[in-house]
Formats: sequence, C-alpha cells, structure tokens
Amino acid sequence: MTTMPPHRDAIACIPRHLAIIMDGNGRWARQRQRPRTVGHRAGARAVNVCIDFCLNAGIRTLTLFAFSSENWQRPKEEVGALLNLFVRALEREVDELHRRGVRLRFIGERDRFPDAMRQRMRDAERLTADNTTLNLCIAAGYGGRADITQATRRLAAQVAAGELHAADIGEADIGNALCLADLPDPDLLIRTGGEHRVSNFLLWQLAYTELWFTPILWPDVDAGVLAQAMTDFAARERRFGLTNEQIVEGTRR
Ligand code: IPE
Ligand code: IPE
Ligand code: MG
Repeated sequence: MTTMPPHRDAIACIPRHLAIIMDGNGRWARQRQRPRTVGHRAGARAVNVCIDFCLNAGIRTLTLFAFSSENWQRPKEEVGALLNLFVRALEREVDELHRRGVRLRFIGERDRFPDAMRQRMRDAERLTADNTTLNLCIAAGYGGRADITQATRRLAAQVAAGELHAADIGEADIGNALCLADLPDPDLLIRTGGEHRVSNFLLWQLAYTELWFTPILWPDVDAGVLAQAMTDFAARERRFGLTNEQIVEGTRR
C-alpha cells in the first residue's frame, strides 16, 4: 500500500507542471495500415484534448515534446509533413488559445526551422506573452543535451568576460541558463507509447520528476487516461532524498 502524508489535499495533488512525451503516432497509423503522417495528424487532435484537460484541472504549466533534436534525422517526407502539421496547427489554434488565456512558448533550437515558421512562433509568443491561465511550452527541435550545452556556453562566456568566477558556478546558475528557467520543474512526466525512456527530454529539469508510463499510443489518449495519471501521481510520496518520517513531520509543522 502507498503511504501518503496526511496533509495532502486535492490541490497539492495536482502537478504544477506536467510534461508529456507524446509517443506512438507512427504505431497508431501502422495499426490502421496508414502512413505515419496520418498518425501525426491524429496526434495533433490529442494535443487539444490534453490542453482542455489542463485548463479544466487547473494545471498551470504543460510542456509537450513534439519534435526532438534527433527527429530531424527521420525521412525527409516525414519531417516535412510534421512541419506542415505544425504550421497548420499554429494557424488554426493560436487565436483560440489566446482567447482562453494560454501563454505559448517554444523551446528547442529554432535555426533549422524555415523562416516563416520561426516568424509564426515569435508572433504566437508575442501575442500570448501576458496570458496567465496556462503556460503551454512546445518542445520542437528540442534536446536536453543541447539545452545544457547552450547553458554551458553562456556561463563560459560570462567567465571569459570576467563577470563570473568559475568556482562560484552553482546549480542555480546552470538552472537559470536553461530553457524554462522561470517555471517550476515538472512534477509529473507522462510518456505514452510504451517506451520507458526519457529520449533526451528535459534532462536537468526531470531530476525529481515523477514518471508515469503507459502503453497507450498518443493519438488514443483521452481525458480518462490523463485522469488516471493524475490519480496515480496524487498517491505518490515525493521524498526528494529525505526519509518518509521527515516528510510526514514536515507537513505537520
Ligand atoms: C511521436 O510519435 C511523434 C514524434 C516523435 C514526432 P512517433 O512518430 O515517434 O511514433 P512511433 O514511436 O514511431 O510509434
Ligand atoms: C521522443 O519520441 C520524441 C517525441 C515524442 C517528440 P521518439 O519516438 O523520437 O523517441 P525514441 O526514438 O523512441 O527514443
Ligand atoms: Mg516514437
């Protein structure tokens, strides 16, 4: 049986930051003898389900892994189809997301995306910059190692400029140089599609994140699946290296 500190109320059990590796689109399509791109299109629908869920549940930050730095190596037809889908989703959804108070941002290396797409990303970020209902972060062309690498370069440049002493570099400096520095680390990571790995997602930020895996393929995800993840998350005891007794004692104070 899971031991749960007695203090936990419903609010404390909702992740402040939910991160999702949306995997399984290709297999979903293969099950239907359809091209992989059909799976990606179905996956885009599941994204909307997930955003609705977060808005209803009061989750304040959602980070979706849409396209990894390694996914650029997929066949060029698939990459092209994904970029098209991405552009169309932006065209279709941004105004409505703005109306609902969603703040959009994109993480990942943008250089490889076509200019027009980068412009759309910037426009969406600017339009929604003051929204506060939900932070929606889309990881596109994102890799956790690349993120840590760019943070290292930034800090090294500060050291070279004499603005920072190497001996003074602490975890907070590294964390602050990474993407999403202004947001809490993910409380819960969901990975659909049955694989039990992180695939270069938010490597630094996942240090104490609860992990939840399901064999369900991303396009099949519905509110019931997400609710199950929330229920399981609520029953976890997060100890952050402490003992169970310390956690229980800390909640009584
Ligand atoms: C996730 O689904 C979407 C992206 C990585 C872009 P996949 O395309 O990886 O689907 P599977 O894992 O091959 O089923
Ligand atoms: C992870 O899925 C990336 C995204 C969901 C965007 P992959 O399908 O690329 O991961 P691997 O290759 O199975 O590890
Ligand atoms: Mg996959």
